[in-house]
Amino acid sequence: MVPILLLGVPGAGKGTQAKRLVARYHIPHLSTGDMLREIETSGSAQGVQIGHDMHQGNLVPDTVVCQVVGKRLQRPDCRNGYILDGFPRTLPQAEWLIGFLHNGASFRPAGPIIVVYLTVGYNDLYRRLLGRRSCPECGRIYNDFTQPPRQAGVCDLDQTALVQRHDDDPAVIRERLSAYEERTLPLVQFFRSHGQLLEINGAEPVNRVSERMFAAIDPFIAVPACPPTGGGQ
Ligand code: AP5
Ligand code: MG
Repeated sequence: MVPILLLGVPGAGKGTQAKRLVARYHIPHLSTGDMLREIETSGSAQGVQIGHDMHQGNLVPDTVVCQVVGKRLQRPDCRNGYILDGFPRTLPQAEWLIGFLHNGASFRPAGPIIVVYLTVGYNDLYRRLLGRRSCPECGRIYNDFTQPPRQAGVCDLDQTALVQRHDDDPAVIRERLSAYEERTLPLVQFFRSHGQLLEINGAEPVNRVSERMFAAIDPFIAVPACPPTGGGQ
């Protein structure tokens, strides 16, 4: 089993490309953003605190995120690999992951961790984040400017009304970008020596980004012939 990590600035296309990786490699998509939003909606005391951090554009504390991820990675659907979208996001998280994979995890990697680093210029990001809409039912991601649904405000797949994320607000986006620069960008250097870093130009059209990503990953992961069995978050 080989984990795939998606690294990139908010709006780089991690969630969009993760769904395509699921379809190709038949491994589950683990988005820490989605997992934390789910805990937030549970209404627990921890959920309230997590929601507070996320709405401000701050990172959730490392101990909380590592605990959530550690529990999720022990589930049987991670046996053949998984896609980590938005984790790790700090050096302590990255160091925790390396230690966990080598000492604590039920499923150990058979080769180097594959890190897909999606690069996009900052000029594109505001348009991407302010225009993003997603389906609360199936999770499909749209964009009013670059990837609109067939009918405005409605999911193509299940006709559910699309929603906007609370943190896709100009002031919060600024905070998210500055958290990325300060705490996540150093991971690029970290994974040059602790993984197989694949740098992909995320500014190209979605299909082109996927093609380049698959071409870079295929030498490391066999494309399964059979359909997926279970998975999801
Ligand atoms: P998270 O949900 O992970 O948000 P993020 O990192 O800010 O990234 P986004 O989801 O905004 O962007 P994306 O790269 O997935 O882009 P997408 O594919 O949607 O985290 C949210 C919060 O949770 C954090 O701020 C933090 O508080 C907390 N958190 C999460 N993980 C944490 C961790 N590990 N540690 C601590 N705290 C954590 O695409 C964006 C838009 O662009 C869409 O509209 C899409 O349609 C469009 N688009 C995508 N690709 C293209 C393309 N190639 N061309 C044109 N448009 C495109
Ligand atoms: Mg995302």
